[in-house]
Amino acid sequence: MGVEICVEGLTKSFGHQVIWQDVSLTLPAGEVSVMLGPSGTGKSVFLKTLVGLLKPDRGSVTVAGRDITKLREHDLYEVRKLFGVLFQDGALFGSMNLYDNIAFPLREHTRRSESEIRRIVLEKMDMVGLLGAEAKLPGEISGGMRKRAGLARALVLDPEIILFDEPDSGLDPVRVAYLNQLIVDLNAQIDATFLIVTHDIASARQVPDNIGLLFRRELVMFGPREQLLTSDEPVVRQFLNGRMQGPIGMAEEKDAAQVEQELAQIREPTGTPGSRPLTPRLLPGPGITRPPRWEAIAAREAELQRKEVADA
Ligand SMILES: Nc1ncnc2c1ncn2[C@@H]1O[C@H](COP(=O)(O)OP(=O)(O)OP(=O)(O)O)[C@@H](O)[C@H]1O
Ligand SMILES: [Mg+2]
Repeated sequence: MGVEICVEGLTKSFGHQVIWQDVSLTLPAGEVSVMLGPSGTGKSVFLKTLVGLLKPDRGSVTVAGRDITKLREHDLYEVRKLFGVLFQDGALFGSMNLYDNIAFPLREHTRRSESEIRRIVLEKMDMVGLLGAEAKLPGEISGGMRKRAGLARALVLDPEIILFDEPDSGLDPVRVAYLNQLIVDLNAQIDATFLIVTHDIASARQVPDNIGLLFRRELVMFGPREQLLTSDEPVVRQFLNGRMQGPIGMAEEKDAAQVEQELAQIREPTGTPGSRPLTPRLLPGPGITRPPRWEAIAAREAELQRKEVADA
């Protein structure tokens, strides 16, 4: 059913530079969460802290009942097996073909026979639509194929938690759509807990159960998708609508007066029924059973829409 990750009071700095402070959130077991934030706000640092690759200054990260920030290397190694991580560039070995790249964690972390490895590798390659490309080198395939190969590799140890660092960067819109569908389908099939870092607002709107936003060294908000999509918090609204007007600037140095002036200029159709329709969720593809939580979520979202219309 996936594993819950509970982050409490997490603070990380490098030297004198505080990256973020006092971050608390719970990634619910089996759900998909997205982390947003302007470039340089420490999203990648956050993912690395969750897997124990970076040590925070303060706070805890509880995974399967254990605070990984306190674990010694040997125990950390065990807990890390729960994670599959898709790094930003796929992080494939350039001299290995796709088959060997994807088989690598199995050869490294398990004692499985080559015939078992073959079965697992081909199953995951099939899942991400790469069957037939086993002999290709990373340098011979497209960026989208590299991402999918990285994803297949993240899946081979049957992780309880999958972290994706910008899985969609550098992909064309059609490939992003396919990747999003793949993520939703995968989550329905394997029930792992997902955290996705992305800059793609369309993906952030349709894919996750929960959304978080990092800005100016703080976690501005973390909560159910529909809560953020209908939020009046200026930073959240600006980011989710991809606007220039608002508290977030190019160099993050806007003063309060400028922000107020900009916000006053935006004439949003408030007060009209359905002024903030929720972007529909992306559903698992045909033949894939929806996770049980979906009914409750759909009911919650419908209720919220009724309220929005009633308030208007
Ligand atoms: N190992 C490190 N040592 C020192 N500083 C680091 C280290 N890793 C990251 N940083 C700094 O932490 C800050 C946040 O970096 P991070 O890569 O997490 O940002 P990000 O939100 O992922 O940005 P982007 O959206 O561009 O990928 C940056 O200022 C970066 O220079
Ligand atoms: Mg990053």
